Amino acid sequence: MSSTNFPPLKNDLILRVCRGESVERVPIWIMRQAGRYLPEYKVISSEHSFFEVCRTPSLACEVTLQPVRRFDLDAAIIFSDILVIPQALGMQVEMIANEGPCFPQPLKTPEDLNTKIDRTRKASEELKYVYEAITLTRHTLDGQCPLIGFAGAPWTLMSYMIEGKASTTMSKAKRWLYSYENESHDLLTVLANFTIDHLVEQIAAGAQIVQLFESHCACLTPDLFNRFSLPYLCQIAKGVREKLVQRGIPSVPFILFAKDAHFGLHDLAKSGLFDVVSLDWTITPSTIRSLRNENSTLTLQGNLDPCALYSSKANLEKFVREMLEIFGTQQYIANLGHGIYPDMSVDNVQWFIDAMFSWLSPSFLM
Ligand code: CP3
Repeated sequence: MSSTNFPPLKNDLILRVCRGESVERVPIWIMRQAGRYLPEYKVISSEHSFFEVCRTPSLACEVTLQPVRRFDLDAAIIFSDILVIPQALGMQVEMIANEGPCFPQPLKTPEDLNTKIDRTRKASEELKYVYEAITLTRHTLDGQCPLIGFAGAPWTLMSYMIEGKASTTMSKAKRWLYSYENESHDLLTVLANFTIDHLVEQIAAGAQIVQLFESHCACLTPDLFNRFSLPYLCQIAKGVREKLVQRGIPSVPFILFAKDAHFGLHDLAKSGLFDVVSLDWTITPSTIRSLRNENSTLTLQGNLDPCALYSSKANLEKFVREMLEIFGTQQYIANLGHGIYPDMSVDNVQWFIDAMFSWLSPSFLM
Protein backbone atom coordinates (compact mmCIF):
# COMPACT_ATOMS: atom_id res chain seq x y z
CA MET A 1 0.00 0.00 0.00
CA SER A 2 1.42 3.39 -1.00
CA SER A 3 2.22 6.13 1.48
CA THR A 4 1.74 8.90 -1.08
CA ASN A 5 -1.67 8.85 -2.77
CA PHE A 6 -3.84 9.32 0.33
CA PRO A 7 -7.50 10.36 0.04
CA PRO A 8 -8.13 14.12 0.43
CA LEU A 9 -8.78 15.34 3.97
CA LYS A 10 -12.40 16.29 4.69
CA ASN A 11 -11.76 17.74 8.17
CA ASP A 12 -8.52 19.68 8.64
CA LEU A 13 -9.71 21.69 11.67
CA ILE A 14 -7.00 20.41 14.03
CA LEU A 15 -4.24 21.01 11.47
CA ARG A 16 -5.41 24.60 11.01
CA VAL A 17 -5.38 25.15 14.79
CA CYS A 18 -1.87 23.71 15.03
CA ARG A 19 -0.75 26.20 12.36
CA GLY A 20 -2.25 29.06 14.40
CA GLU A 21 -5.05 29.77 11.88
CA SER A 22 -8.44 30.96 13.14
CA VAL A 23 -11.14 28.31 13.25
CA GLU A 24 -14.91 28.10 13.46
CA ARG A 25 -14.96 25.49 16.23
CA VAL A 26 -12.57 24.06 18.82
CA PRO A 27 -11.25 20.67 17.63
CA ILE A 28 -11.43 17.74 20.02
CA TRP A 29 -9.77 14.35 20.43
CA ILE A 30 -9.23 12.24 23.54
CA MET A 31 -6.02 10.71 24.84
CA ARG A 32 -6.45 6.91 24.91
CA GLN A 33 -9.61 7.28 22.84
CA ALA A 34 -9.09 3.71 21.59
CA GLY A 35 -9.25 1.42 24.57
CA ARG A 36 -11.07 -0.64 27.11
CA TYR A 37 -13.98 1.75 27.81
CA LEU A 38 -15.23 0.83 24.29
CA PRO A 39 -17.20 -2.46 24.09
CA GLU A 40 -15.96 -2.99 20.53
CA TYR A 41 -12.32 -2.75 21.77
CA LYS A 42 -13.02 -5.36 24.45
CA VAL A 43 -14.20 -7.78 21.76
CA ILE A 44 -10.87 -7.47 19.92
CA SER A 45 -8.78 -7.62 23.10
CA SER A 46 -10.61 -10.77 24.24
CA GLU A 47 -9.37 -12.49 21.08
CA HIS A 48 -5.87 -11.01 20.68
CA SER A 49 -3.09 -9.99 23.05
CA PHE A 50 -2.25 -6.30 23.33
CA PHE A 51 1.03 -6.48 21.39
CA GLU A 52 -0.55 -8.79 18.79
CA VAL A 53 -3.03 -5.97 18.04
CA CYS A 54 -0.13 -3.48 17.86
CA ARG A 55 1.82 -5.76 15.49
CA THR A 56 -1.04 -6.64 13.13
CA PRO A 57 -1.75 -3.65 10.88
CA SER A 58 -5.35 -4.71 10.09
CA LEU A 59 -6.15 -5.01 13.84
CA ALA A 60 -4.32 -1.82 14.80
CA CYS A 61 -6.22 -0.04 12.02
CA GLU A 62 -9.57 -1.42 13.19
CA VAL A 63 -8.98 -0.37 16.82
CA THR A 64 -7.77 3.09 15.73
CA LEU A 65 -10.98 3.59 13.75
CA GLN A 66 -13.36 2.40 16.49
CA PRO A 67 -13.58 5.71 18.39
CA VAL A 68 -13.81 7.85 15.23
CA ARG A 69 -16.65 5.68 13.93
CA ARG A 70 -18.58 6.13 17.15
CA PHE A 71 -17.82 9.80 17.94
CA ASP A 72 -17.33 13.03 16.01
CA LEU A 73 -13.65 13.36 16.84
CA ASP A 74 -11.30 15.68 14.95
CA ALA A 75 -8.32 13.29 14.99
CA ALA A 76 -7.53 9.59 15.15
CA ILE A 77 -4.41 8.34 16.99
CA ILE A 78 -2.67 5.23 15.76
CA PHE A 79 -3.08 2.24 18.04
CA SER A 80 0.38 1.36 19.34
CA ASP A 81 2.33 1.91 22.56
CA ILE A 82 5.29 3.92 23.75
CA LEU A 83 6.98 0.67 24.84
CA VAL A 84 7.46 -0.60 21.28
CA ILE A 85 10.80 1.28 21.35
CA PRO A 86 12.36 -0.65 24.27
CA GLN A 87 11.05 -3.81 22.57
CA ALA A 88 12.64 -2.79 19.28
CA LEU A 89 15.94 -2.25 21.12
CA GLY A 90 15.80 -5.87 22.28
CA MET A 91 14.03 -5.77 25.65
CA GLN A 92 11.14 -8.06 26.47
CA VAL A 93 7.90 -6.28 27.43
CA GLU A 94 4.68 -8.01 28.49
CA MET A 95 1.30 -6.38 28.94
CA ILE A 96 -0.40 -7.86 31.98
CA ALA A 97 -4.18 -7.52 32.11
CA ASN A 98 -5.39 -5.02 34.71
CA GLU A 99 -1.82 -4.30 35.78
CA GLY A 100 -0.03 -2.76 32.85
CA PRO A 101 3.39 -3.20 31.28
CA CYS A 102 6.06 -5.47 32.76
CA PHE A 103 9.73 -5.94 31.81
CA PRO A 104 10.80 -9.37 33.12
CA GLN A 105 14.47 -8.35 32.84
CA PRO A 106 14.73 -4.61 33.52
CA LEU A 107 18.03 -2.69 33.39
CA LYS A 108 19.72 -3.11 36.77
CA THR A 109 23.24 -1.75 36.35
CA PRO A 110 24.98 0.33 33.67
CA GLU A 111 26.67 -2.87 32.41
CA ASP A 112 23.21 -3.96 31.26
CA LEU A 113 23.40 -1.22 28.61
CA ASN A 114 25.93 -3.43 26.81
CA THR A 115 23.98 -6.69 27.11
CA LYS A 116 20.25 -5.90 27.24
CA ILE A 117 20.13 -3.23 24.55
CA ASP A 118 21.15 -3.66 20.93
CA ARG A 119 22.16 -0.20 19.72
CA THR A 120 22.59 -1.39 16.15
CA ARG A 121 18.84 -1.91 15.69
CA LYS A 122 16.96 0.49 13.44
CA ALA A 123 13.39 1.79 13.77
CA SER A 124 12.85 1.41 10.01
CA GLU A 125 13.48 -2.34 10.32
CA GLU A 126 12.12 -3.21 13.78
CA LEU A 127 8.94 -1.14 13.77
CA LYS A 128 7.76 -1.66 10.19
CA TYR A 129 4.47 -2.95 11.56
CA VAL A 130 3.71 0.51 13.06
CA TYR A 131 4.39 2.23 9.73
CA GLU A 132 2.30 -0.30 7.81
CA ALA A 133 -0.55 0.23 10.29
CA ILE A 134 -0.30 4.00 9.80
CA THR A 135 -0.38 3.78 5.99
CA LEU A 136 -3.32 1.36 6.06
CA THR A 137 -5.22 3.45 8.60
CA ARG A 138 -4.64 6.68 6.70
CA HIS A 139 -6.15 5.06 3.58
CA THR A 140 -9.03 3.48 5.49
CA LEU A 141 -9.86 6.75 7.30
CA ASP A 142 -10.65 8.06 3.81
CA GLY A 143 -9.85 11.63 4.87
CA GLN A 144 -12.39 11.69 7.72
CA CYS A 145 -9.85 13.39 10.02
CA PRO A 146 -6.05 13.58 10.45
CA LEU A 147 -4.08 10.66 11.90
CA ILE A 148 -1.76 11.26 14.87
CA GLY A 149 1.47 9.26 15.33
CA PHE A 150 3.27 9.22 18.67
CA ALA A 151 6.22 8.11 20.78
CA GLY A 152 7.27 8.12 24.42
CA ALA A 153 9.96 10.58 25.45
CA PRO A 154 13.38 9.28 26.58
CA TRP A 155 13.02 9.81 30.35
CA THR A 156 9.62 8.07 30.40
CA LEU A 157 11.02 5.11 28.44
CA MET A 158 14.19 4.96 30.58
CA SER A 159 12.11 4.90 33.77
CA TYR A 160 10.07 1.90 32.51
CA MET A 161 13.21 0.10 31.32
CA ILE A 162 14.76 0.38 34.81
CA GLU A 163 11.69 0.08 37.05
CA GLY A 164 10.30 -2.78 34.96
CA LYS A 165 6.72 -1.76 35.80
CA ALA A 166 4.68 1.14 37.13
CA SER A 167 6.21 2.75 40.21
CA THR A 168 5.07 5.57 42.46
CA THR A 169 8.54 6.68 43.57
CA MET A 170 10.61 5.83 40.46
CA SER A 171 13.47 5.45 42.93
CA LYS A 172 15.31 2.78 40.93
CA ALA A 173 15.31 4.95 37.81
CA LYS A 174 16.13 8.11 39.79
CA ARG A 175 19.08 6.30 41.39
CA TRP A 176 20.61 6.19 37.89
CA LEU A 177 20.16 9.96 37.49
CA TYR A 178 21.99 10.59 40.77
CA SER A 179 24.64 7.87 40.69
CA TYR A 180 25.24 7.01 37.03
CA GLU A 181 24.91 10.40 35.37
CA ASN A 182 27.01 9.65 32.27
CA GLU A 183 25.36 6.28 31.68
CA SER A 184 21.93 7.90 32.07
CA HIS A 185 22.80 10.43 29.39
CA ASP A 186 24.11 7.60 27.22
CA LEU A 187 20.82 5.71 27.50
CA LEU A 188 18.73 8.86 26.99
CA THR A 189 20.75 9.66 23.86
CA VAL A 190 20.19 6.18 22.41
CA LEU A 191 16.45 6.55 23.09
CA ALA A 192 16.28 10.10 21.69
CA ASN A 193 17.97 9.05 18.43
CA PHE A 194 15.71 6.02 18.06
CA THR A 195 12.65 8.17 18.80
CA ILE A 196 13.63 10.71 16.13
CA ASP A 197 13.77 7.92 13.55
CA HIS A 198 10.51 6.39 14.81
CA LEU A 199 8.64 9.70 14.47
CA VAL A 200 10.16 10.46 11.05
CA GLU A 201 9.18 6.99 9.79
CA GLN A 202 5.63 7.48 11.11
CA ILE A 203 5.37 10.80 9.25
CA ALA A 204 6.82 9.19 6.09
CA ALA A 205 4.16 6.48 6.42
CA GLY A 206 1.32 9.02 6.65
CA ALA A 207 1.03 10.43 10.20
CA GLN A 208 -0.24 14.01 9.88
CA ILE A 209 0.59 15.16 13.46
CA VAL A 210 2.94 13.66 16.05
CA GLN A 211 2.67 13.73 19.84
CA LEU A 212 5.55 13.04 22.23
CA PHE A 213 4.51 11.72 25.66
CA GLU A 214 6.76 12.57 28.62
CA SER A 215 4.45 10.97 31.19
CA HIS A 216 6.79 10.63 34.16
CA CYS A 217 7.74 14.17 35.18
CA ALA A 218 5.90 14.07 38.52
CA CYS A 219 8.88 12.42 40.22
CA LEU A 220 11.48 14.84 38.81
CA THR A 221 12.85 17.94 40.51
CA PRO A 222 13.04 21.05 38.30
CA ASP A 223 16.80 20.47 38.12
CA LEU A 224 16.45 16.80 37.08
CA PHE A 225 13.86 17.84 34.48
CA ASN A 226 16.23 20.48 33.09
CA ARG A 227 19.11 18.01 32.82
CA PHE A 228 17.49 14.69 31.91
CA SER A 229 14.21 15.50 30.17
CA LEU A 230 14.06 18.96 28.57
CA PRO A 231 17.26 18.69 26.45
CA TYR A 232 16.04 15.42 24.91
CA LEU A 233 12.55 16.78 24.19
CA CYS A 234 14.19 19.67 22.35
CA GLN A 235 16.69 17.37 20.59
CA ILE A 236 13.82 15.23 19.30
CA ALA A 237 11.75 18.17 18.04
CA LYS A 238 14.80 19.59 16.21
CA GLY A 239 16.02 16.20 15.01
CA VAL A 240 12.67 15.23 13.51
CA ARG A 241 12.44 18.51 11.59
CA GLU A 242 16.02 18.22 10.31
CA LYS A 243 15.56 14.65 9.10
CA LEU A 244 12.29 15.55 7.38
CA VAL A 245 14.10 18.32 5.49
CA GLN A 246 16.91 15.90 4.53
CA ARG A 247 14.37 13.42 3.19
CA GLY A 248 12.24 16.05 1.45
CA ILE A 249 9.18 15.18 3.54
CA PRO A 250 6.90 18.10 4.52
CA SER A 251 6.87 18.85 8.25
CA VAL A 252 3.83 18.14 10.42
CA PRO A 253 2.63 19.73 13.70
CA PHE A 254 4.45 18.55 16.83
CA ILE A 255 2.53 18.19 20.12
CA LEU A 256 4.39 17.79 23.39
CA PHE A 257 2.69 16.38 26.48
CA ALA A 258 4.93 16.63 29.54
CA LYS A 259 2.62 15.44 32.30
CA ASP A 260 3.18 17.13 35.69
CA ALA A 261 6.04 19.24 34.32
CA HIS A 262 4.51 22.51 35.56
CA PHE A 263 8.02 23.76 36.39
CA GLY A 264 9.15 23.26 32.80
CA LEU A 265 6.18 24.57 30.84
CA HIS A 266 7.53 28.10 30.37
CA ASP A 267 10.81 26.83 28.93
CA LEU A 268 8.92 24.42 26.67
CA ALA A 269 6.64 27.23 25.46
CA LYS A 270 9.52 29.68 24.98
CA SER A 271 11.64 27.15 23.07
CA GLY A 272 9.40 27.62 20.03
CA LEU A 273 10.12 23.98 19.11
CA PHE A 274 6.60 22.67 19.71
CA ASP A 275 3.49 23.74 17.82
CA VAL A 276 1.25 22.51 20.62
CA VAL A 277 1.84 22.00 24.35
CA SER A 278 -0.62 19.66 26.01
CA LEU A 279 -1.52 20.39 29.64
CA ASP A 280 -2.61 18.15 32.47
CA TRP A 281 -5.43 19.06 34.85
CA THR A 282 -3.18 20.50 37.56
CA ILE A 283 -2.32 23.59 35.50
CA THR A 284 -3.90 26.79 36.85
CA PRO A 285 -5.70 29.42 34.73
CA SER A 286 -2.96 31.95 35.53
CA THR A 287 -0.26 29.58 34.18
CA ILE A 288 -2.35 29.06 31.06
CA ARG A 289 -2.62 32.83 30.56
CA SER A 290 1.10 33.33 31.10
CA LEU A 291 1.94 30.54 28.61
CA ARG A 292 -0.21 32.35 26.06
CA ASN A 293 1.74 35.57 26.75
CA GLU A 294 5.06 33.73 26.57
CA ASN A 295 4.56 32.52 23.00
CA SER A 296 1.74 33.99 20.95
CA THR A 297 2.02 31.34 18.22
CA LEU A 298 1.65 28.39 20.61
CA THR A 299 -1.48 26.23 20.56
CA LEU A 300 -2.52 24.67 23.87
CA GLN A 301 -4.22 21.31 24.35
CA GLY A 302 -6.05 19.86 27.34
CA ASN A 303 -6.91 19.68 30.12
CA LEU A 304 -10.15 18.29 31.55
CA ASP A 305 -9.58 16.01 34.53
CA PRO A 306 -10.46 12.56 33.09
CA CYS A 307 -12.45 11.88 36.27
CA ALA A 308 -14.78 14.77 35.33
CA LEU A 309 -16.20 12.21 32.87
CA TYR A 310 -17.83 10.56 35.89
CA SER A 311 -20.03 13.61 36.41
CA SER A 312 -23.56 14.44 35.22
CA LYS A 313 -24.28 15.89 31.79
CA ALA A 314 -25.08 19.32 33.29
CA ASN A 315 -21.84 19.39 35.26
CA LEU A 316 -19.79 18.28 32.23
CA GLU A 317 -21.31 21.17 30.27
CA LYS A 318 -20.30 23.53 33.06
CA PHE A 319 -16.72 22.16 33.05
CA VAL A 320 -16.50 22.58 29.28
CA ARG A 321 -17.74 26.18 29.54
CA GLU A 322 -15.14 26.89 32.24
CA MET A 323 -12.35 25.39 30.09
CA LEU A 324 -13.35 27.59 27.16
CA GLU A 325 -13.39 30.66 29.41
CA ILE A 326 -9.79 29.89 30.36
CA PHE A 327 -8.38 28.70 27.02
CA GLY A 328 -10.59 30.66 24.58
CA THR A 329 -11.78 29.20 21.28
CA GLN A 330 -8.62 29.84 19.20
CA GLN A 331 -5.20 28.15 19.31
CA TYR A 332 -6.81 25.53 21.50
CA ILE A 333 -7.45 21.78 21.12
CA ALA A 334 -9.91 20.28 23.61
CA ASN A 335 -8.73 17.07 25.24
CA LEU A 336 -8.44 15.44 28.63
CA GLY A 337 -5.52 16.21 30.94
CA HIS A 338 -4.44 12.54 30.58
CA GLY A 339 -5.85 9.31 29.14
CA ILE A 340 -9.40 8.09 29.59
CA TYR A 341 -9.90 5.24 32.12
CA PRO A 342 -11.41 1.84 31.27
CA ASP A 343 -14.45 2.26 33.58
CA MET A 344 -15.68 5.44 31.92
CA SER A 345 -19.01 5.47 30.17
CA VAL A 346 -19.34 5.99 26.43
CA ASP A 347 -22.41 8.19 27.10
CA ASN A 348 -20.35 10.60 29.18
CA VAL A 349 -17.65 10.71 26.48
CA GLN A 350 -20.45 11.59 24.02
CA TRP A 351 -21.67 14.38 26.35
CA PHE A 352 -18.14 15.82 26.54
CA ILE A 353 -17.88 15.87 22.74
CA ASP A 354 -21.42 17.28 22.34
CA ALA A 355 -20.67 20.04 24.83
CA MET A 356 -17.55 21.02 22.86
CA PHE A 357 -19.47 20.98 19.58
CA SER A 358 -22.10 23.39 20.94
CA TRP A 359 -19.46 26.14 21.32
CA LEU A 360 -18.67 27.88 18.09
CA SER A 361 -16.12 30.62 17.83
CA PRO A 362 -17.81 34.04 18.42
CA SER A 363 -16.08 35.61 15.38
CA PHE A 364 -17.60 32.97 13.08
CA LEU A 365 -21.09 33.53 14.54
CA MET A 366 -21.16 37.21 13.56
O1 CP3 B 1 -5.98 5.58 21.83
C1 CP3 B 1 -4.80 5.89 22.04
O2 CP3 B 1 -4.45 6.77 22.82
C2 CP3 B 1 -3.71 5.20 21.22
C3 CP3 B 1 -3.00 4.20 21.83
C4 CP3 B 1 -2.09 4.37 23.04
C5 CP3 B 1 -1.90 3.31 23.95
N1 CP3 B 1 -0.88 3.66 24.79
C6 CP3 B 1 -2.64 2.05 23.92
C7 CP3 B 1 -2.76 1.29 25.17
C8 CP3 B 1 -1.22 5.41 23.43
C9 CP3 B 1 -1.08 6.82 22.86
C10 CP3 B 1 -0.45 4.94 24.52
C11 CP3 B 1 0.61 5.72 25.17
C12 CP3 B 1 1.22 5.19 26.40
N2 CP3 B 1 1.47 3.90 26.75
C13 CP3 B 1 1.75 6.04 27.41
C14 CP3 B 1 1.78 7.55 27.38
C15 CP3 B 1 0.48 8.13 27.77
C16 CP3 B 1 0.18 8.01 29.22
O3 CP3 B 1 -0.79 7.28 29.50
O4 CP3 B 1 0.88 8.60 30.03
C17 CP3 B 1 2.25 5.20 28.44
C18 CP3 B 1 2.87 5.65 29.74
C19 CP3 B 1 2.08 3.85 28.00
C20 CP3 B 1 2.50 2.61 28.69
C21 CP3 B 1 1.33 1.80 29.01
N3 CP3 B 1 0.64 1.01 28.10
C22 CP3 B 1 0.68 1.66 30.27
C23 CP3 B 1 1.10 2.36 31.56
C24 CP3 B 1 -0.38 0.79 30.11
C25 CP3 B 1 -1.27 0.25 31.18
C26 CP3 B 1 -2.28 1.25 31.58
C27 CP3 B 1 -3.58 0.92 30.97
O5 CP3 B 1 -4.23 1.81 30.45
O6 CP3 B 1 -3.95 -0.27 31.05
C28 CP3 B 1 -0.42 0.43 28.74
C29 CP3 B 1 -1.40 -0.44 28.10
C30 CP3 B 1 -2.22 0.17 27.02
N4 CP3 B 1 -1.74 0.97 26.03
C31 CP3 B 1 -3.60 -0.07 26.81
C32 CP3 B 1 -3.95 0.62 25.64
C33 CP3 B 1 -5.28 0.66 24.96
C34 CP3 B 1 -4.48 -1.00 27.63
C35 CP3 B 1 -4.10 -2.41 27.35
C36 CP3 B 1 -5.24 -3.39 27.37
O7 CP3 B 1 -5.97 -3.47 26.39
O8 CP3 B 1 -5.33 -4.09 28.38
